[in-house]
Amino acid sequence: MAQKTYKVIQWATGTVGKAALKYFIENPLTELVGVLVTNPDKVDKDAGDIVGLPKTGVRCTDDEEAIIAMPADCVLFAPSMMTPPIDMVCRLLASGKNVVSPAGPFLPNKFIPDHAARVEAACKEGNTSFHGCGIHPGFAGDILPLTLARLMSRIDCIEVAEIIDKVRNPMIYTEIMGFGTDCDDLLANPRRSPETYKHFFSSMTAIANGLGVEIDDVTVKFEVSRAKVDISHEFGLVKAGTCGGQHYEWTAWCQGKPLIVYHFYWQLGTEIEPLWEQGEAKYRVRIHGDPPLECHLMAMEDADGHHPFLGIPWTGLVGCNVVPDVCDAPAGVVTHFDIGIVQPKGLVRR
Ligand SMILES: NC(=O)c1ccc[n+]([C@@H]2O[C@H](COP(=O)([O-])OP(=O)(O)OC[C@H]3O[C@@H](n4cnc5c(N)ncnc54)[C@H](OP(=O)(O)O)[C@@H]3O)[C@@H](O)[C@H]2O)c1
Repeated sequence: MAQKTYKVIQWATGTVGKAALKYFIENPLTELVGVLVTNPDKVDKDAGDIVGLPKTGVRCTDDEEAIIAMPADCVLFAPSMMTPPIDMVCRLLASGKNVVSPAGPFLPNKFIPDHAARVEAACKEGNTSFHGCGIHPGFAGDILPLTLARLMSRIDCIEVAEIIDKVRNPMIYTEIMGFGTDCDDLLANPRRSPETYKHFFSSMTAIANGLGVEIDDVTVKFEVSRAKVDISHEFGLVKAGTCGGQHYEWTAWCQGKPLIVYHFYWQLGTEIEPLWEQGEAKYRVRIHGDPPLECHLMAMEDADGHHPFLGIPWTGLVGCNVVPDVCDAPAGVVTHFDIGIVQPKGLVRR
């Protein structure tokens, strides 16, 4: 059956961007037309070389203006979290290209009304659409629990936990996030700002809206655990007595009771005190109510018998799979509700 195809640009080729780039090269519905990189070693390389695939004929560029001028249906915008995304997202939208962005902004979101207004204006100017994508925010804390809610007859509280062992799943952010620092100092100065929940508020709102209720308030908790022994990980060594684990907890309250709780358990192995969680990297949804439900979203076991953390590549893929829906949507911000049940094409390739 003939399928409509979409010309796409991959903006940045980090962990998320590489997953998306590979998808775009391999999926018959997407035609890769451009790749924006910042790393000088990648400039002028063939896109296929970046992800270990055959040559594509598309060369990576660091010329942002050339990318903005390039005709395409969609940009998967995945630059580093260090870059505020809003200015470039708006330029791309105004240039006539739809944007799917794991770098945010995550809309609709009452905490960033200025972003919403700017994105809507840019969409209007370019007759384009915008969708913020990701594993969390973007899937594990909104689409997944809302989908599971169909299996419930009463909901008291929804808990979503991101569980990552950073020894088994090394991440460059481990040091930046304060692992290996003095626990009391870190408690006083958490590296993940207490304001971060605001970027996830669109996910909390999606659940609440879907359930027909409203969030009154969000409260934030942060606790750390101490390494009991020296712990080495791919990017360094955490000394015994310093921070070996972090637990962020954000609770959205509805009519005086917790309705949605997001937990983030990031740990360096199990030699830490307290040890909050055992088990492998996963997203875990628990819905308390009738009948109580628990769902684990995790990678399949690998050859070593472990379940690796796939949240970062999933963040790219969950965006790639809505590119057709976003391109075909009317101009403006495209929410999960606008898209409905995604029907990803081009994945079955015999
Ligand atoms: N919503 C979610 O669930 C979720 C989850 C994970 C990540 N994210 C977001 O997705 C984005 C990509 O994450 P990632 O894990 O792929 O990050 P990453 O591995 O650090 O890669 C980011 C890429 O951005 C480019 N870059 C580097 N420095 C830059 C700068 N100063 N300005 C602009 N671009 C720069 C580089 O691209 P080149 O190598 O091509 O030069 C780099 O590889 C981030 O914004 C992150 O916050 C969202």
